[in-house]
Amino acid sequence: MTQDEMKKAAGWAALQYVKPDTIVGVGTGSTVNHFIDALATMKDDIEGAVSSSEASTKKLKELGIEVFDLNSVDSIDVYVDGADEINDRMDMIKGGGAALTREKIVAAVAKQFICIVDNTKQVPILGNFPLPVEVIPMARSYVARELVKLGGDPVYRQGVITDNGNVILDVYNMQILDPKVMETKINAIVGVVTNGLFANRGADVLLVGTPDGVNTVTL
Ligand code: 5RP
Repeated sequence: MTQDEMKKAAGWAALQYVKPDTIVGVGTGSTVNHFIDALATMKDDIEGAVSSSEASTKKLKELGIEVFDLNSVDSIDVYVDGADEINDRMDMIKGGGAALTREKIVAAVAKQFICIVDNTKQVPILGNFPLPVEVIPMARSYVARELVKLGGDPVYRQGVITDNGNVILDVYNMQILDPKVMETKINAIVGVVTNGLFANRGADVLLVGTPDGVNTVTL
């Protein structure tokens, strides 16, 4: 089974968490693209979606799913998104697709976070995947120096501008032993919009695509 087939299995499995007549929070990435394909099969049963990126918005609209502005929505029952890494505590690194800030905002509003991954994303300790940090452009060098003080090796993601008009620093070699503390510390650096640690608001349900089917994990 290929990695993409495992992503697809996880993406389609998330459909069971979508309730009729609700607005669904939709993440970003190749795994989520499979979920959006699945969601399109029940587009007449849901009110619509709130999207975490321009890319997901485009795909949702192409498939005939109405996309709402988050400011016009009171609550979201479920948010479905992928991850670059996830540990046993359901803490994640996200932002490989540079959509971390909007993802974190929609996740904050949602009652339940359903994380969909293939089995390569499960790790004992976060940090092998470089941690994305979204930064206001004029603060890039300052934030990079502060990230070095925290023990990381930040690398400017050349040529990438986020949907919010900012830049991304990918932090290599970060020892992330306490993801909640690290998330808070990095977010306290002036000029950081947010970082890709999703620990203070982690996943509630994890659906892992494997060659033997989809495993469901809850805490
Ligand atoms: C985008 C993300 C994605 O969820 C993450 O990068 C996983 O992507 P994929 O499903 O393509 O492996 O955080 O910002």
